[in-house]
Amino acid sequence: MFVCVCNAVRDRDLKEAARQGVRRFEDLQACTRVATCCGRCEPMAREVFTRALDPAPQSVQPA
Ligand code: FES
Repeated sequence: MFVCVCNAVRDRDLKEAARQGVRRFEDLQACTRVATCCGRCEPMAREVFTRALDPAPQSVQPA
């Protein structure tokens, strides 16, 4: 899914950046150009990026 239409940045691009070690939103912008034009995508981009950095813990199955 495209998160940033202006720069054709997809959610998987943001997740891949997080997987490769990007930890700050400003660095994410530098390497993907997300949210560097009109800025309308920034809330969604931040949400996708935050979840990629700290995914919800897996549910623990009872023994
Ligand atoms: S949609 Fe991302 S900067 Fe415009």
